[in-house]
Amino acid sequence: MSADETHGSGGASAEVAARVERRWATIAVAIIVMMALLAAFAGIHRATMPQPRVETTDPSRIHLSGEFVESNLGSVLEANGNVTVRAIGQQYSFTPACIVVPVDTPITLRATSADVVHGILIQGTNVNTMLVPGYISEQLMRFTRTGDYLMPCQEFCSFGHEGMWGKVKVIDKADFATRAKSGGRLSCVGQ
Ligand code: CUA
Repeated sequence: MSADETHGSGGASAEVAARVERRWATIAVAIIVMMALLAAFAGIHRATMPQPRVETTDPSRIHLSGEFVESNLGSVLEANGNVTVRAIGQQYSFTPACIVVPVDTPITLRATSADVVHGILIQGTNVNTMLVPGYISEQLMRFTRTGDYLMPCQEFCSFGHEGMWGKVKVIDKADFATRAKSGGRLSCVGQ
């Protein structure tokens, strides 16, 4: 094999390698572009479609009628033994400011905002939801130990935000049932 031939075949294989490399580079770029398009489509599509289950309220009228009138806020023991808590957030407090619930009980928190976007976060738990005016936020929760839990607003809602705190008081089941017997909506405000 002459030096020329070696050089020639070397040149040809370099050309083949370059072609193969370009082809794979094209495929890699195409995959990246396709993934970016899929992510963009999924994100935009999700953002523009309404959620499968949306409950709305009229923030200008929640104090006057419907589920979130003041007399209906607080905790209620349902016939099936579960507890429903209704609350609203407004600049700069929660109503009720102290939520009382029994331990080891399925609890449904239903809440909305009367003005701007607020958030409910219960410290030490995974309860964390936004309160958006016009929409009802529902979150299921269950506490495995009694005690007091802090409940700060976790969404910046203007200059009083850092003072917007609530509390959740988890009490004994029997204790809660006794209190619930009197009817009405329970809270621990002022206790
Ligand atoms: Cu309400 Cu921050």
